[in-house]
Amino acid sequence: MKYGFFDDSALEYVITTPKTPLPWINYLGNKEFFSLISNTCGGYTFYKDAKLLRLTRYRYNNVPYDNNGKYFYIKDNTDSNNQVVWNPGWQPVKTVLDKYECRHGLGYSTFTSSKNDVETKVLTFVPMNDNCEVSKVTITNNKGTDALITLFSYVEWCLWNADDDMKNFQRNLSTGEVEVTDNGSTIYHKTEYRERRNHYAIYSVNAPVDGFDTSRDAFLGAYNGPDSPDAVAAGKCTNSVASGWSPIASQQINLSLKPGESKTFIFILGYIENPEDDKWEAPGVVNKKPALEMISSYKDEAAVDAALAELKNYWKELLSNYHISSTNEKVDRMVNIWNQYQCMVTFNMSRSASYYESGIGRGMGFRDSCQDLLGFVHLIPDRARQRIIDIASTQFQDGSAYHQYQPLTKKGNSDIGSGFNDDPLWLIAGTSAYIRETGDLSILKEIVPFDNDMSVAKTLMEHLKCSFNFTATHKGPHGLPLIGRADWNDCLNLNCFSEHPGESFQTFGPSEGPVAESVFIAGMFVKYGEEYAQLAELLGDKAEAERAREEIKKVYEAAITAGWDGEWFVRAYDAYSNKVGSKECEEGQIYIEPQGFCVLAGIGVKEGLAEKALKSVEERLDTKYGVMILQPAYTKYHLELGEVSSYPPGYKENAGIFCHNNPWVSIAETVLGHGDRAFEIYKKTCPAYIEEISDVHCTEPYVYSQMVAGRDAKFFGQGKNSWLTGTAAWTFVNISQYILGVYPTHNGLSIDPCIPEGFGDFQITRKYRGAVYNISVKQNGVQKGIKSLTVNGKEVSGNIIPYEEGVKEYTVEAIMG
Ligand code: BGC
Ligand code: NOJ
Repeated sequence: MKYGFFDDSALEYVITTPKTPLPWINYLGNKEFFSLISNTCGGYTFYKDAKLLRLTRYRYNNVPYDNNGKYFYIKDNTDSNNQVVWNPGWQPVKTVLDKYECRHGLGYSTFTSSKNDVETKVLTFVPMNDNCEVSKVTITNNKGTDALITLFSYVEWCLWNADDDMKNFQRNLSTGEVEVTDNGSTIYHKTEYRERRNHYAIYSVNAPVDGFDTSRDAFLGAYNGPDSPDAVAAGKCTNSVASGWSPIASQQINLSLKPGESKTFIFILGYIENPEDDKWEAPGVVNKKPALEMISSYKDEAAVDAALAELKNYWKELLSNYHISSTNEKVDRMVNIWNQYQCMVTFNMSRSASYYESGIGRGMGFRDSCQDLLGFVHLIPDRARQRIIDIASTQFQDGSAYHQYQPLTKKGNSDIGSGFNDDPLWLIAGTSAYIRETGDLSILKEIVPFDNDMSVAKTLMEHLKCSFNFTATHKGPHGLPLIGRADWNDCLNLNCFSEHPGESFQTFGPSEGPVAESVFIAGMFVKYGEEYAQLAELLGDKAEAERAREEIKKVYEAAITAGWDGEWFVRAYDAYSNKVGSKECEEGQIYIEPQGFCVLAGIGVKEGLAEKALKSVEERLDTKYGVMILQPAYTKYHLELGEVSSYPPGYKENAGIFCHNNPWVSIAETVLGHGDRAFEIYKKTCPAYIEEISDVHCTEPYVYSQMVAGRDAKFFGQGKNSWLTGTAAWTFVNISQYILGVYPTHNGLSIDPCIPEGFGDFQITRKYRGAVYNISVKQNGVQKGIKSLTVNGKEVSGNIIPYEEGVKEYTVEAIMG
C-alpha cells in the first residue's frame, strides 16, 4: 500500500494522507542552518549543531511520536455556532481535513490543505544564504460568503543546548527571556544573551498582528498541549511576555476574506549573531540591526519566490553532475533525485539529527563521514576537501582516530575516544575518492594537525601513511588486523565482556585486545591499502608503493587462509581466538561483511573463493527484502561477542537487513560480472522499488533506512532509522560506479557497466573535472564487458576515457559485448 507518489518532474514526493505509518520527514537547509520537518509539520531547527545551538524544542519519546513542530492554527469563525480549528499539517489538533497534500521537495516542503472551503498553502524552506527558515502561508476563501478567520502561529523555543534543555529544569525554568517589538510582529528569544551568548533567535511575521504570546502557559494553558491551546479556543492571544518557564513565539492575525480572496503572510524563524562588542542597542535591549536586515530580505512574496527559485536552481545544478536516462523509471528517479539528495543530507548531518538520532548524542562519525563522502564528492568536491581535512585533524599520531567529533568545535569526542580499528582506513577511502574525482593531488600536501594540535601537524599523505601503518602494525595471531573496540560493525565487541546493563558496548572494557581479529578489516586493508599505494605512486614514491603492496600481500594471504571457512569468509576471531561467523559456531555462522568487502576488494577471485562466498550469501542470507547481516540470528547473549547478540533476533546488527552492506554484496557481484544478481540485490532495498509496500516498510519511500527487520523478526520487512545511514553513499557508489559503471579513476572516467539482462541502453551525463561527459551505452545483449569505446568520434582501447586538459565536452559511445 502507498501513501503518496513520486512526482519526478517536480522533483518531489507527494504524500496524500497525514497518517503515514511513521513521520515522513524532509530536511531544510544547505549550509549552517537546518530544520527537520515531518509530513505533519513536526520537527525542529538548529544552527550548525543539533545539540549545542538548538532553536526550537522537540519532545522525545513522546506520544504521539511526532511532537513538537512549528504549527499554524486556522480558526474558522465564519459560522459563529460552529467554529472549527485545524492545522495545515493536520497535527497537532488533528481535525479531519477535506484535503491534505504534503510535497517534500529538495530543501523545501509544501502543505496544501483545506477545510470547509478555506484553503491554506504553506511553503517552508531555508534560503541558500541566510540563517533562517521562511514560511509562506497563503489562506484562500473558497466559500461563497465572507470568511472570518484567525491565524495563529506557534513555535516553542529551546534554550539552546538541547541536552541541558531537557534535563536541567532547576536552572532553565528561570532563565528564559524574550523581547517583543511591533506589538508582537517580531519576537526575540534571548535566553542567556545577557551573559555568555552573543546570539538570539527571532520569529517574525511581515504584517501587523492582533495579538501575541511568548509564554507557553499563557498560550496553551498550563494543562494543555499544542493540540488544544487556550488562546486558540478563546480566539485571542494574551500578549504575554515570558520570564523564565517556557518561552514561545505565537502571533495572532484576524482576517476577513471575501469570496475567492487570498492573503499571504511570511514568517521568519531566524538565528542572529552579534559581535561581542556590539551586543546591545540599549542596556538590556538586544542589537536588532542584523535581525531587521534579515526580516527585510523576505518582506514580500517576490523576495520569497526569488529565494525559492535560487534554492531550486542550486539543486538542479547540483544534480546535473550525474544524470541518467534509461528505460527504468525507478532507477532514474533514485539516481537523479533521491539517492543524491540523501547523500547530501548525510553530508550535512552525518549521524547527528534525524527522527532516530536525537541530535544530542552522536556528532560526526569518523568512519561515517568518510564513507558519506564517497556519495557526495562528485557533487561538492570543494566542501568534500574541507571535510577530509577536518576529519584527518581528529586523527592521532599513531594513525588511530577519535571515533566521533562535534560539528561545532570540530574536536574529537573524548567520551567515546578511539579504538575502532577500521576507522583509520576509511580516511584513505575518502581521500582516494576525492583525488580520483578531482585529480587534486595538492590535498596530500596539506599540513594537517593530529588531534587538532598544530604543533604536531604533518601532511595529509603522512596521515594516510599512519592509517596504513596502524593496520599493518596491529595484527593478531593469524596475521589478520586486530579489531579493537569494533570494526564497521559497531556491535561486534570482542574485547568488551560487559556484564552490567547500562555499560556502553562501545566504550566498556579495554580499547585494544591483542588477540581478537577482523577479516573485514583485512578486506578493507587490501582494497584501501592498494588505493594508498596508488597515491604513493602518483607522488612518485615507488618504494612506498612497493612496501605497501608487500604488506597487502601478507594480509591477503591471511584472509584466504585463516580468513576462509570452506564455503565463505570467516567474520573474525574472538578474544580466545575462536572463530566468529563460521560453520563451527552454533549461531552467527555467516556474516555478510567479509563476503561483500573481501570480494569487492578482489580477495579470492582468482582462487575461486569469491564465487563460493557469494553463493553462500545467496543461499543463507538472502530474503525478499534484502540480504541479512548474519545467520542464524543470536538467540542468547554472548558475553564474548558483545552488543551484536544483545538485540532480539532479526533486528539491527543481529540478523537485521543492514542496508549499508547490501551494496557491498551487489558491488562484489559486479566484480564477478553477475549483472542480474547485482541488480536484484540493488532493487530489494531500493526505496522506489518498495514504495508499494510502504505499509510493511513503514519508513519514507524516497530514502534508504539503516535497517529493515530481518526474517527472524516479528515485523519482517519493517524499516527503521531512515535518512542518516551510509547506505545512501554506498548505494549511490554501487549504482553509479559499478552497476551503471561510470567509475572515476586517477586517469579519467572508466566505463564498465554490469547490468541485468534486458536492462537496455542508457545515457549518462556526468560532470567531471570541469568537463561534461555525454555517455551513451549500448547493452548489446551482455551483462558486462565493453567491446568498443568511442570518444569524440575516435575509438580508444580499454575502458578509460583518456582525460585531455582543456577539452570541455566528451561524447562517448560505449558498446558492450
Ligand atoms: C547500534 C549501531 C550503532 C552504534 C553507535 C549501536 O547500538 O546498534 O548501529 O552504530 O550503536 O553507537
Ligand atoms: C551505524 C553506525 O553509524 C556505523 O558507523 C556502523 O558502521 C553501523 N551502524 C554498523 O554497526
